Amino acid sequence: DKYAVIMAGGAGTRLWPLSREHKPKQFISVEGMSSMLEQTLARITELIPPDKCFVITNKNYAELTREVLKTIIPVQNIILEPLRKNTGACISYAALWLERRFQTGSVCFIPADSFVNNKYEYLNAIHQAYRESINSSALTIIGVNPTYPATGYGYIKIDPSKPSVSNHISRVLQFKEKPDMATARTYVESGAYLWNSGMVAGNLQTFRTGIQQHMPEHFNILSAVLDQSDSPSYDSSIEEAYSQLPDISFDNGVLEQSSSLTAIKGYFDWDDIGSLDSLATMIGQDSSGNAVSGSHIGMDTHDSVIYSSDILVTSIGVSNMIIIKTEDVLLVCPKERAQDVKAFVQLLKRIG
Ligand code: GDD
Ligand code: MG
Repeated sequence: DKYAVIMAGGAGTRLWPLSREHKPKQFISVEGMSSMLEQTLARITELIPPDKCFVITNKNYAELTREVLKTIIPVQNIILEPLRKNTGACISYAALWLERRFQTGSVCFIPADSFVNNKYEYLNAIHQAYRESINSSALTIIGVNPTYPATGYGYIKIDPSKPSVSNHISRVLQFKEKPDMATARTYVESGAYLWNSGMVAGNLQTFRTGIQQHMPEHFNILSAVLDQSDSPSYDSSIEEAYSQLPDISFDNGVLEQSSSLTAIKGYFDWDDIGSLDSLATMIGQDSSGNAVSGSHIGMDTHDSVIYSSDILVTSIGVSNMIIIKTEDVLLVCPKERAQDVKAFVQLLKRIG
């Protein structure tokens, strides 16, 4: 059988102030569109029946998640984590949980924060990933052509000389998570790398052995607690278990360490709406290059991202700026500083 797990427990700090601690980006909707989480689920349920689709998120978002998803998937398919310990914990917990429940099958993990333009090609790549993973002891990751030297993504070096089954499927020569700018430039120029879309598929046994081999602490701690999942004190024991887990992404913890990975090249337009400048992709740009959501009137205003949840925003002689007005915050930031929002939020937290 085939299962899909959507990962929706991240904080999405770089999208502040649109994305907030109590309502991170996967739950927000822009311009009357449904949230990224709903869009992700709507896409995947065209391939996988709703009762085999799961969502894993933080317990703080339980209500928010149930509210939007209960009409699409059974509420029992929402897996809750007691603490935020990154995708290393999220994928390990969900994969081991699924194996205990269903014993065998293939699973594809899908981030809830992707923007996808060509649904058909997207589903086609996922379909191939499932097919590839049935009898394989390698995890399969889905990559897309990189368009610029992004430092916020993982890079997949594919082996063009040895296309295994078709030229869409290749052995992975190297996986590098979030390289620095200089390295990202050489990767993109070389033409040998794909961006990691964040989707990873495999059969449940392959996930288990990968976790056991590369993140033994996760494996031991989570296996032990899952063995007691029938006990009444499960909630407190899973919290205790999570508090001991190292905070590491699955990309750093498993994918970078693994010597046998398969990559599928996807032919869809894709963007991780990871920072405020990329909102332009989601909102769409007008003839002046502005991406506007909410009311705005500008004179000589170009190539900017402007969002307002309520008031009219006006601007004169503004270019390459991000202006975000939410209920309680106004942020003004040059587009080129969009990546600094994360550090800025840390600073705000320290100031209190
Ligand atoms: N349940 C749960 N728990 N979900 C989480 C957690 C967690 O602790 N942490 C993150 N997530 C979810 C996020 O909500 C997001 O949907 C997905 O997992 C990926 O996490 P991000 O934090 O957004 O990762 P990233 O964007 O920095 O990097 C990953 O995605 C890139 C593509 O978007 C990596 O896989 C990169 O290699 C990849 O290029
Ligand atoms: Mg992301």
